[in-house]
Amino acid sequence: MDYQEGLSADMLPLDVPTPGKIRLRRAVDDLESVVYRIIDERARNPGDDVVSRMLAVEDESGEGMSREQIRDEVMTLLLAGHETTALALTFTTFLLAQHPSVEERLLAELDDHLGGDPPTVEDVRNLPYLETVVKESMRLYPPVPGIVREATGTDEIAGYTIPEGATLSINQWTVHRDPSLYDDPMAFRPDRWTDEMEQSLPRLAYFPFSAGPRRCVGDRFAMLEAKVVLATLLQRYHLELVSDPSLDLVATITSRPRNPVLMRVHERT
Ligand code: HEM
Repeated sequence: MDYQEGLSADMLPLDVPTPGKIRLRRAVDDLESVVYRIIDERARNPGDDVVSRMLAVEDESGEGMSREQIRDEVMTLLLAGHETTALALTFTTFLLAQHPSVEERLLAELDDHLGGDPPTVEDVRNLPYLETVVKESMRLYPPVPGIVREATGTDEIAGYTIPEGATLSINQWTVHRDPSLYDDPMAFRPDRWTDEMEQSLPRLAYFPFSAGPRRCVGDRFAMLEAKVVLATLLQRYHLELVSDPSLDLVATITSRPRNPVLMRVHERT
């Protein structure tokens, strides 16, 4: 957060030692030491995980990835992949806590397919209702609320002239809640996601992972992770919302609740 605020408030080069830049350097050092710790741990104890694979991989000339390359990849996984998916899980559990009939239907699907077992990757591909729950949650609460693009040429959109080079802000948040695209847009209704409905949606009416060449590279990983976590968690626990049911969201690169979303955890019997 400090880093993002620092970015807009202080555009001086990185090596100018302003207090903000010193804090940023320290924060980067802290993050790097966490990442190097993970890499060194895996180098000592390889397992079946993405860091161990990066450590083992070689190109055609037999050259492996350098420690710095692996650091950069792990940093991307941590920063682009962690908060976004964590937010998707927060919003989904927040919505489920307020929609008992959706939770009930989801539990019936999990029970039918998994019977209390933890899900495998194969299992989560066959949980269609869970898929629609996550989709619908990211429609109402896209973890990344907006993206920006630069116009490569002059254009006209809805009567407005867009000059070449203009920066355009495109908001998932607004588009996903547009009543001309979604019936009763403020309602959390996973069952709106039928094949027919998806086919009738205009392109880019739903884009939690953005679109085009800079679309999220982790979209499938994120969906898989979110579904595995939810299927595991919900079979064992019911989460009861105890904090304020109106989320006070702060939009930066992601959209996150200003205050913690508190849940009471009840073990299912
Ligand atoms: C629910 C979870 C996630 C959401 C909502 C999300 C959303 C996005 C969005 C909207 C963008 C595009 C930004 C733009 O167009 O300007 C993006 C880019 C990216 N995401 Fe994700 N993401 C998620 C999870 C992940 C995960 C798990 C990873 C890594 C495993 C990841 C890695 C990346 C990377 C590397 C980019 C930059 C791609 C590029 O610029 O070419 N994301 N993400």
